[in-house]
Amino acid sequence: MPWQRKDLLGLEELTAEEIELVLRTAEVFADVFERPLKKFPTLRGRTVVNLFYEPSTRTRTSFELAGKWLSADVINISSSSSSAAKGESLADTARTLEALGADAVVIRHSAAGAPHLLARTVKIPVLNAGDGAHEHPSQGLLDLFTIRQHKGKIAGLTVTIVGDLLHSRVARSDIWGLTKLGARVRVTGPATLVPPTFASLGVEVYRDLRPAVEGADVVIVLRLQRERQAGGLIPSLEEYAALFGLDAEKMSWLKPDALVMHPGPANLGVEITEEAALDPRSAIRDQVRNGVAVRMALLYLLVGGGEKDVPAVA
Ligand code: NCD
Repeated sequence: MPWQRKDLLGLEELTAEEIELVLRTAEVFADVFERPLKKFPTLRGRTVVNLFYEPSTRTRTSFELAGKWLSADVINISSSSSSAAKGESLADTARTLEALGADAVVIRHSAAGAPHLLARTVKIPVLNAGDGAHEHPSQGLLDLFTIRQHKGKIAGLTVTIVGDLLHSRVARSDIWGLTKLGARVRVTGPATLVPPTFASLGVEVYRDLRPAVEGADVVIVLRLQRERQAGGLIPSLEEYAALFGLDAEKMSWLKPDALVMHPGPANLGVEITEEAALDPRSAIRDQVRNGVAVRMALLYLLVGGGEKDVPAVA
């Protein structure tokens, strides 16, 4: 089945087959870090614009590397340097970029739905790099890729997501992706940050950390989103760290071969200690590296699909 969508807006609307196609395509690029020459000619002559209205290190750099390693010209625009600061609307910015010959726009925005608005406004592909607390599909896909790389499968695994689910677009994309591919998902965190309504997404809600992580194959720790009011929903950071922060002692509750993940950037000492983040069971570094391969796959499928400069994928 070839890729048929114009945009990548979220994992909620993708089928399991479409997710599989992205993951299989990413396999082709997965060894890119081992190559002395990292460039594929696939997107030569194409232009990808990164339009970031929120701070970002890894997602923006990762999309930038992905575009560059596919030989595209990559332009980075941040909110402070864009005409948004002069009052230009998002739709108008997008139409301008399209008129200037952009072949795709990667957008991060604090408003949920901003990429969807853009996708309706322009004819070029729009890739959601995080919209409010809604979705972060490329992160969800790289998490799936990393889990499968380590565990050899997704179906049948038990995956526990810990922390500030309320404000987390990563958690929502992970939940859609994991459940579509047949994993069992548990979620846990303070009741104010993990409302019981999450059960409607097909996950099991746990109140306490220990039973939630015991027996889990993968534990995904989320950043406490202090800039999104999470701070006001917990009594104190110390109490949060004591109850839900992953540290050496709590790591002993996990299976010996459990995988520990975090989308980054981590508040070390709050949701995870540095020691736990560097534990041999941690796949955090692999997540960062796999992010580039997954984003290369996405740009290949959405912008350069059909060309034969990389090994064919079924
Ligand atoms: C996440 C994000 O921005 O949603 N980070 C990322 O893209 N790697 C997670 C977060 O900020 O907590």
